[in-house]
Amino acid sequence: MRRKALSAILAVAMVAALVVGCGSSTTETTGDAAATEEATDDAAADDAAAEAENEALAAAEGGRIGVAMPTQSSERWINDGANMKEKLEALGYEVDLQYAEDDPQAQVSQIENMIAAGANCLVIAAVDSGALTTVEAAAKEAGIPIIAYDRLLMDTDAVSYYASFDNKGVGTAIANYIVEAKDLEAAREAGESYTIEFFMGSPDDNNAVLLHQGIMEVLQPYLDDGTLDCKTGRTSFEDTCILRWSQETAQQWCENYLTGFYAEEDLDIACTAFDGFAYGVKAALQGAGYTAENWPLVTGQDAELMACKNILDGTQTMSIYKDTRLLAEKCITMVQAVMTGTEPEINDTTTYDNNVIVVPSYLCTPVAVDAENLQEVIVDGGYYAAEDLGL
Ligand code: GAL
Repeated sequence: MRRKALSAILAVAMVAALVVGCGSSTTETTGDAAATEEATDDAAADDAAAEAENEALAAAEGGRIGVAMPTQSSERWINDGANMKEKLEALGYEVDLQYAEDDPQAQVSQIENMIAAGANCLVIAAVDSGALTTVEAAAKEAGIPIIAYDRLLMDTDAVSYYASFDNKGVGTAIANYIVEAKDLEAAREAGESYTIEFFMGSPDDNNAVLLHQGIMEVLQPYLDDGTLDCKTGRTSFEDTCILRWSQETAQQWCENYLTGFYAEEDLDIACTAFDGFAYGVKAALQGAGYTAENWPLVTGQDAELMACKNILDGTQTMSIYKDTRLLAEKCITMVQAVMTGTEPEINDTTTYDNNVIVVPSYLCTPVAVDAENLQEVIVDGGYYAAEDLGL
């Protein structure tokens, strides 16, 4: 559809150029002056043609992009939405940005409205990745391409591309951090153990499943031989996943764990999959009287501003930095590709099987940040200003 629109616009541009050209040939002139004038006219015609062509291309670059985001309850999605809108608008697109506030049905309605309003392309970060199949089929039927943003869209063949981070790699990075920070190899040798509890992501988010896999690939052997001791026994994804990534639920769970299982012994490691969980865990730990003396190692994901501040004051140990500026950039190259009928840059064509198709993906690299490298990665990298972090 876009291709047809582009050829139609270019055809109009060419006709416009011809009309300008014809106009110049009717000018009556004589002698040298005539030659000069003819050359000037030719140049003017060329200029007009180029201008018309540019205008046509600019118009072709334009179009309406629907951006469906999950929630404004966490800082990262506010930044993601703002980045996408700003960058798309700078390229001449009209942007319809909507947040569904973690309500899957509200997201369906928002996407239906985007389609009805004439969206040319949809960018979706799903609330519930499998709940959009009907509206995705409707978009496909209407010839509107869909790009999955950060979270894979499941059970559909209507998605063209996926821009995200290496989600299993996020889990691996969190687990490797724990192994190194607590020197689990030495603990194993010495027959020592650390207590650990898990707070994993939403069951309707494929990222959460992969992240848990990445964590367990590294930590399972230490759980098996007792180097890591999970007193609640809750290590499986089913037992540790938290619907809609709820900070309140993470806090409640942690409070229950601390009273029910950690009355005698301290919790040493809170392995959480998200900065929001780390905030909930922090509140629970403070409520239970933990201090700097016995504060556990607390992990997170997203390197939100608050998480970075907590890392600096010691109430969170690490987070996974996912540069949302880079993610938005990669996603936008996908938007431009589908809008102009070209191929975007892809670096994974095997991992992201959504139960119907394997979605061609671009995966950005996650980076672990803690108090040691925060200045270098986050501040020097321009993600947050030193003064925002009180540095
Ligand atoms: C996931 C995403 C994480 C985190 C989480 C909660 O899909 O991969 O980075 O943001 O959602 O919002």
